[in-house]
Order: sequence, then structure tokens, then C-alpha cells
Amino acid sequence: MSAPLEGARSRRAGSTRRQFLLGGAVAGVGAVAAVGVDLALNRQESAAKPVSAPMNGELTVPFFGVHQAGVDTAAQAHGVFLGLDLREDVDRDGLTRLMRILTDDAARLTQGLPALADSEPELALSPARLTITFGFGPGLVARAAGAGPSWLAPLPAFRVDQLRPEFSDGDLLVQVAGDDPLTVAHATRMLLKDARGFASIRWTQQGFRRAHGTERPGTTMRNLFGQVDGTTNPEPGTEQFDEVVWSADGWLAGGTGMVIRRIRMDLDKWDRLDRSGRDASVGRTLANGAPLTGTEEFDEPDFEATTAIGFPVIAPFAHIRRARGEGNEHIFRRAYNYDERPLGTEVSESGLIFVSFQADVERQFIPMQRRLDELDLLNEWTVPIGSAVFAIPPGCAEGGFIGETLLD
Ligand code: HEM
Repeated sequence: MSAPLEGARSRRAGSTRRQFLLGGAVAGVGAVAAVGVDLALNRQESAAKPVSAPMNGELTVPFFGVHQAGVDTAAQAHGVFLGLDLREDVDRDGLTRLMRILTDDAARLTQGLPALADSEPELALSPARLTITFGFGPGLVARAAGAGPSWLAPLPAFRVDQLRPEFSDGDLLVQVAGDDPLTVAHATRMLLKDARGFASIRWTQQGFRRAHGTERPGTTMRNLFGQVDGTTNPEPGTEQFDEVVWSADGWLAGGTGMVIRRIRMDLDKWDRLDRSGRDASVGRTLANGAPLTGTEEFDEPDFEATTAIGFPVIAPFAHIRRARGEGNEHIFRRAYNYDERPLGTEVSESGLIFVSFQADVERQFIPMQRRLDELDLLNEWTVPIGSAVFAIPPGCAEGGFIGETLLD
């Protein structure tokens, strides 16, 4: 329709296409042993049908590799985040067993194969770009008798925070994301069933973006304020992305750091703000996400530009001015929206599951969050109510397991 969408499309087409090529249809081999003859027949029949393009449900993202999937993967429509607490008796050997089991589950489920002893194997057959990503909290690394990274700890307290324990911290993070909600639900259940002897659920968070196929691949997401959210973000596959995201340190080399913050967005209060106030709060237009000094989404904001009477066009309190990283202080954002049943008389209980990946949380994320804590007009309508930091270990090769660089 509009020019801004065209811009987004052409800029993002590369990574979307790459992901598609990396994916491919559901794997056919190996299913027979896992689920028996009936399912295998179904699979062969559907494989024999001539199809022009794979269905959404058939697309897979490779599980094994240098990095875990689910970080540089184009964000899927549905994301579930689980924060688990380890049971007291789980030691380093127990952790190794747990991560071997969960790795095996993830390797199968993401490729459209049922997990071992899958209770609903049919639900595994449409992977829909499922990715399963594991993260280690400070408690887990301590349990493994491992060291570092130094930033692996709860974030310092910020004035804006009203954190609730039921959305904060945790030993083990599991991010399950895919383009089909039933697939995501099934994978989540299988992982939790296999984890329950080792860990209990501390929190779960469910998030969404546009449904698969609603918009062209590569369109920047919108949050529930209606804002285009994610424009200025390192592009997966570029040198800048690799520098911002992937760690080169010790057991975390090839992994990254994850900050996950549940940020409540007061939509009822936002309703009382007019459109120009909404644009000014971020420094970009709601219409297409263009900076107030430009016309297209990907125009560079001009922070020096002033109005006829000398005021900055992008205000000193504007979110993008305050958030803009200096030097090598950048992060990669991969957020999801949430929308829950409201409490009391309000009509909404909504917000952002803010997720950012960066090699060094202390150097890249904390200074940015400090600036936003000091001044950011968006703080009028947003409140962080959950917060956790995890180290996302590197990926592994077939036969290995996620976390082996720490545990083996
Ligand atoms: C509910 C809370 C938040 C909302 C609604 C929000 C919304 C936005 C929007 C609409 C933009 C402009 C488009 C874009 O480049 O993505 C933006 C940019 C950005 N936000 Fe946020 N944001 C929130 C929280 C945060 C937090 C907690 C951080 C990090 C501490 C952050 C960091 C950034 C960065 C780095 C940019 C790009 C700035 C630039 O242009 O260089 N945001 N955000």
C-alpha cells in the first residue's frame, strides 16, 4: 500500500529470504522410528503431493549450529517465555542430564518430529518455524560451578521499576517461538513435562506479533500503542549485528546476553494523549514510523534540526533521542506484545515483553536503560513490572547439547 511499507520490505527482504532457504519442508526421515507407522504414512502421503510452495506449517529453522536459533531468526508470530527455578537437589550432573534431554526435545520438535515419548505426536508435525532457545540465570551458572559473565545478575534498580517477583529472575529461561500457536503450546508442554523432575515454573509470559501472513515479511512490528517498534535495530547477517550480539568470551563464546523486561503500557492513559503528543513522545510518527525530521520509516533522524522558533524537532525527552546508543553501545531488540485480562475497572492490561540481546549487558544495555530512567517521555505511560537477565549459551552440533561449553 504505502511507500513506508515498501521501504521496510526491501530492507528486510534479505534476511527473510535467507531464513526461508535455510528452512525447507518438514523432515521426513526419522519420524517412523519415533511415532510409528500411521504417522509415517501420513507424512509420506503429504510429501508425495505436488505443492508449489511450502505451507507455513512446514517451514523449519535449523536447530544445530554455532548460535542458538531464536535470536537472529526473523521473529515469529507467537512467543512463550518460561522462567524456571531449579530444584534444590539438582547438581552439575543433574543439570547436564536436564540440558541433554531438553536439547533432544528441541532438536526434534523444531524439525517437525515428535519428542521422545511425545504424548500428542501429531501436534509436532507442523513446526511452523518453531525455535526453542535456552538461557542460563545466575543461579544455574553457580550450580554448575561456572564463572561469569560478570553482568549475569539482576539489573540495578531503576526509579521507573515496579518489579513483581512473579515476572522476574529465574534459573533457566526457555523461549519457545513459532508461527503457529498450537505448535508453540505443544512444544512448551513437552519441554515442561521433561523439565519437571529438575525445575519448577517461576513465571510464564505469552506474547504475540501480527499473525503469520497478515503483513509482508520484513514489515517492522507494531506495539499496542500503535507505534512502529523495531526500526533502528541491527540487521541479522551483518557485521554490526555480530558485534552487537555475539559474545566471544569463555564458555559463552557464540552465545549472547538476554534482557527480558515485562513493561506494562497504560493504554487507558495513552487514550488521553492526542496524536501529535504521541508522535512527540517517541520522536517518530505513528503513521509510518518516520522520524519527525523525515518522511520514510528508515530515514535517519536529524537530532540537530530545529523548528522555526528554535526548538528541537525531536524533543530532548523523546524516546529515540534518549535511547540512541553511543559508540558501540547498541542492543538488538526482539520484543513481543502481551494483552491480558484487565483487573479492576480498566479496559486493558497490556504491554511489551521487551527482549534485547547483546554481548555484554553491562556495557550495552545498562547505560541505555539508565538514560531512559532519567528522562524519557514514554515513562508517563510505561512501567517495568518484570525483569530478568540470562546468558544464552552458544548453539551445539548434532550429538552435543546446549550448555555443554559450561557443563562438559
Ligand atoms: C514499553 C516500552 C517501550 C516502548 C513502547 C518502546 C517503543 C519504541 C519505539 C516506538 C521506538 C522507535 C522505533 C524503533 O527504532 O524501534 C523505539 C526505539 C528504541 N527503543 Fe524503545 N520502547 C520501549 C522500551 C525500551 C527500552 C526498555 C529500551 C532499552 C533500555 C529501548 C530501547 C530502544 C532503542 C535502542 C531504540 C532505537 C533508538 C534509535 O533510534 O537509535 N526501548 N522504542
